[in-house]
Amino acid sequence: MWGGRFASGPAEIMEEINASIGFDKRLAPQDIRGSLAHVAMLGKAGILPAEDVAKIEAGLKTVRDEIEAGSFEFRRELEDIHMSVESRLREIVGPAAGRLHTARSRNDQVATDMRLWVRDTLDALDGQAADLQQALAELALTHAGTVMPGFTHLQSAQPVTFGHHLLAYVEMLARDRGRFRDARARLNECPLGAAALAGTSFPIDRHATAASLGFDRPTANSLDSVADRDFALEALSAAAIAAVHLSRFAEEIVVWTSAQFGFVRLSDRFTTGSSIMPQKRNPDAAELVRAKSGRIIGALSGLLIVMKGLPLAYSKDMQEDKEGTFDALQTLSLCLAAMAGMVRDLEPVPEVLKVAACSGYATATDLADWLVRELGLPFRDAHHVTGRLVGEASSRGIGLEALPLAVMQAEEPRITDAVFAVLGVENSVRSRTSYGGTAPDNVRAQAEGWLKRLAGEAA
Ligand code: ARG
Repeated sequence: MWGGRFASGPAEIMEEINASIGFDKRLAPQDIRGSLAHVAMLGKAGILPAEDVAKIEAGLKTVRDEIEAGSFEFRRELEDIHMSVESRLREIVGPAAGRLHTARSRNDQVATDMRLWVRDTLDALDGQAADLQQALAELALTHAGTVMPGFTHLQSAQPVTFGHHLLAYVEMLARDRGRFRDARARLNECPLGAAALAGTSFPIDRHATAASLGFDRPTANSLDSVADRDFALEALSAAAIAAVHLSRFAEEIVVWTSAQFGFVRLSDRFTTGSSIMPQKRNPDAAELVRAKSGRIIGALSGLLIVMKGLPLAYSKDMQEDKEGTFDALQTLSLCLAAMAGMVRDLEPVPEVLKVAACSGYATATDLADWLVRELGLPFRDAHHVTGRLVGEASSRGIGLEALPLAVMQAEEPRITDAVFAVLGVENSVRSRTSYGGTAPDNVRAQAEGWLKRLAGEAA
């Protein structure tokens, strides 16, 4: 491959550490797309004769067919996907293949291939995140009025609705999708033609190759073009944040499906049994989504560490961008799919959710608000009165709504039996009508709004 300069081949271990073909073969479609764009431009610019262009184009398509058919033989001594494709091209079309590499280098080639791969993958992830939003919004609409306990510190805080809880994740996913799209917009410049690092003396048309590969424009600085992988870092950081969102929801599914909570039931399709304990229904898929965030975050920190301190322009270190990026984005895709499947098979248990919502004095804030609204108490005083009433109810082992009026009046004589209306969890959620609040009418409108928006995107 290196021509005359080398008398002997690489040491066995050199070949092993150097080769990337084992993992960059997945860039074959992008590599061939890039080469087709490059050779067409070389022809139009008069750099290559038309007959060579025709031969190379036909040969590249044959290589593409062989790779798709699985008959292509990847060989480690050819190091990477770029040299593997070119070497096979030479076998197919002869010496004309040697002209394909005019006015380019593997450095701009690999930067282009990676951008194309990350761009395709971000588009796919965006679609999958939209599908998960759809599943969540549908379930949220069904359960817009299903009361459940809302938690802070995992302690009963105030009642909310199940639909409201699910829509929180729809919002997170919307921001995740925004990050995927931002990353895509910034990466969409074409490095092809930057060549090794300095550009080229051939009269190439970088605007033409950029346009034919769907990029917005060519990158403006040849050194930057081949030296940065910030586009992969951005995609990975967007992926890491999304994975963290999914891991939180996964954790909730794990907790909610436990016998102690029993908030939801997960289908047989998304649970496993135990080989020894017959009663078990383990939420393995949720646990794995929770765990896989680790490797996605790991890929981000791994690549940050590879890149830090690298002098311009290309260094072989940058070959280490691939496995982590491929693995992390593919893992996120798997997690999104598993989550969408689980959400579609998730059945909340309204009776259990209601009982849980009623326990833990979750309507104490409603009582305090009532004292402010109806009796004109300053909120801090109302908070104290309510705290004493909760203490009283708790020592009797009953809920606030079961506390006799006389006991309440002993704390605050102006309390009337009208107070009992706000102590029920249904009334509590119904009263939370502030924008973004958990009132079932709000939740219904939000869920419908999301479903309409998602349908509009799909159209
Ligand atoms: N396999 C290499 C990579 O992934 C391609 C670029 C090689 N360039 C070079 N100058 N050795 O980074």
